[in-house]
Amino acid sequence: MKEKLQNLKDEAIKKIEASNDLTKLNDVRIAVLGKKGDLTAISKSMKDILPKDRPAFGQLINEARSEIEKRLEDAKAALEAKELEICLKKEVIDVTLPAKKNKLGHKHPNTIALEEVERIFVGMGYEVVEGPEVELDYYNFEALNIPENHPAKDEQDTFYINDNILLRTQTSPVQVRQMEKGKLPIRMIAPGRVFRSDEVDATHSPSFHQIEGLVIDKHITFADLKGTLAEFARELFGEETKVKFRPHHFPFTEPSAEVDVTCFKCGGTGCRFCKGSGWIEILGCGMVHPRVLRMSGIDPEEYSGFAFGVGLERIALLKYEIDDMRLLYENDDRFLKQF
Ligand code: DAH
Repeated sequence: MKEKLQNLKDEAIKKIEASNDLTKLNDVRIAVLGKKGDLTAISKSMKDILPKDRPAFGQLINEARSEIEKRLEDAKAALEAKELEICLKKEVIDVTLPAKKNKLGHKHPNTIALEEVERIFVGMGYEVVEGPEVELDYYNFEALNIPENHPAKDEQDTFYINDNILLRTQTSPVQVRQMEKGKLPIRMIAPGRVFRSDEVDATHSPSFHQIEGLVIDKHITFADLKGTLAEFARELFGEETKVKFRPHHFPFTEPSAEVDVTCFKCGGTGCRFCKGSGWIEILGCGMVHPRVLRMSGIDPEEYSGFAFGVGLERIALLKYEIDDMRLLYENDDRFLKQF
């Protein structure tokens, strides 16, 4: 019996020493010390021994158990240390490697220009409102006094969803939507994306942005329009800027005008930038047509108003002296981060 115990112990120690990972070591522990393990089996055979020999044999078993337990523990500690070392070697950090740079985004010139325009008008008490990009033909044309066969519809060809629904060609329909709400007076600007079936070139894109302006109140006159836009131009392009109103035609305003500002590069003497004229065109405007007021439920005998429409890209191109609109849509951050 004693010999059997000795063999078992030697065998167990050999197996422990041969275990080269934690799983194998655990298997050895179960095979020897487990409920159905070899050492447990020997303990159970105690009953076959003479009672007087039992205490001595019991002590031998306990010693063997302690010895095996200690070996198991040592082996476990050694294996864990080894695994940790392998892990650390694998996860070594090369501090000489260049760091991964986080690329910071940058505001688009359109966004910078829009924020500037919004700041100016909000400062004058205007509200910023929005309208849908997918618009009813009625709001984009009809309600703006552009009937079915009007030639103005030709100039603003767009993408039609069906006969009645299209991608808006201008932000002017937001005027109508705001007037229909019936809350007067109105002082609003409406920035947003517009669409036309135009070919892409240095000054055209099938999708661009406008900022619409509308003021409706009692006793609004052309003088209010002039004063407002002159102030806008001074704030946007500099204190020295002068404005010029050229007669023009828009179906939804009467009278209508196009507005030029003195060239902010040469101050009006003429240069390459303003093509020698000293003036740069920036927007269209006019007094809201009585018919447009009436269609939106406003009495033109009691109320009057003015409206204007600015091309956002045009402002951005002018302000930042960019000579090709396509640069605005290429998303090249070497270009964008200059502004
Ligand atoms: N919607 C016009 C366009 O796209 C611009 C415009 C002109 C808007 C005169 C206005 C306005 O509100 O009064 O060409």
